[in-house]
Amino acid sequence: MRLFITFEGIEGSGKTTQIQLLRGYLERKGCRCRITREPGGCRIGDKIRDILMDTNNENLTPLSELYLIMANRGQHVVEVIEPALKNQNVLICDRFHDATVAYQGFARGMALDLIERLNQTVTKGLNPDLTILLDCPVEVGLERARGRMEAGNLSWKEGRFEGEQEDFHQRVRDAYLTIAKAESRRIKVVDGLKGEHTVEREIRHLVNPFLK
Ligand SMILES: Nc1ncnc2c1ncn2[C@@H]1O[C@H](COP(=O)(O)OP(=O)(O)OP(=O)(O)O)[C@@H](O)[C@H]1O
Ligand SMILES: [Mg+2]
Repeated sequence: MRLFITFEGIEGSGKTTQIQLLRGYLERKGCRCRITREPGGCRIGDKIRDILMDTNNENLTPLSELYLIMANRGQHVVEVIEPALKNQNVLICDRFHDATVAYQGFARGMALDLIERLNQTVTKGLNPDLTILLDCPVEVGLERARGRMEAGNLSWKEGRFEGEQEDFHQRVRDAYLTIAKAESRRIKVVDGLKGEHTVEREIRHLVNPFLK
């Protein structure tokens, strides 16, 4: 079946954890599942991701950052997302357009109309069927992300966004909630503070109607 689901939320809100759990559930139901992420998602996208995440790139301007993200998305849509959906897969993407609106738009202050225009161009109007927003307080998310970095699952070099000040992440969280309110049919907010398996259950309830 053809279904496009995206996961959004601040660092450490549990996106990657929940995507893996949802994949298991969907596969047990006989769905073919493809998981991908932004930034990254394809060979060229991964090269762009390296530039975006590298803490040495402190001089990267907000505009350069935005265009790199959009270049990544355009490539990713053509190479991965469109083919997977055409082949009747459930495609789950770890961050997509809403992340650009929240991070580059609301948190960095880039013009929202520019972001929308670029997005329309690179996605050719493709929109997720369902977006799960995992909401949790910034302190909790960052603490979890830090714990994971110390556990060695993410290199420090990858942390250009993790390295931002706490108020940046607060703006991102608030932005996500604002976006979710404006698009409440597509974007469903799930409380990411709850235990992993409670969150997993709530996500299944949101996904189930699409499986019928
Ligand atoms: N509901 C939860 N309760 C407590 N800990 C959690 C929960 N969900 C995930 N974690 C833990 O928090 C850490 C961050 O989770 P995860 O990597 O899934 O977040 P993420 O949203 O993908 O973060 P990032 O945006 O940085 O990739 C992991 O160590 C994970 O095991
Ligand atoms: Mg993750």
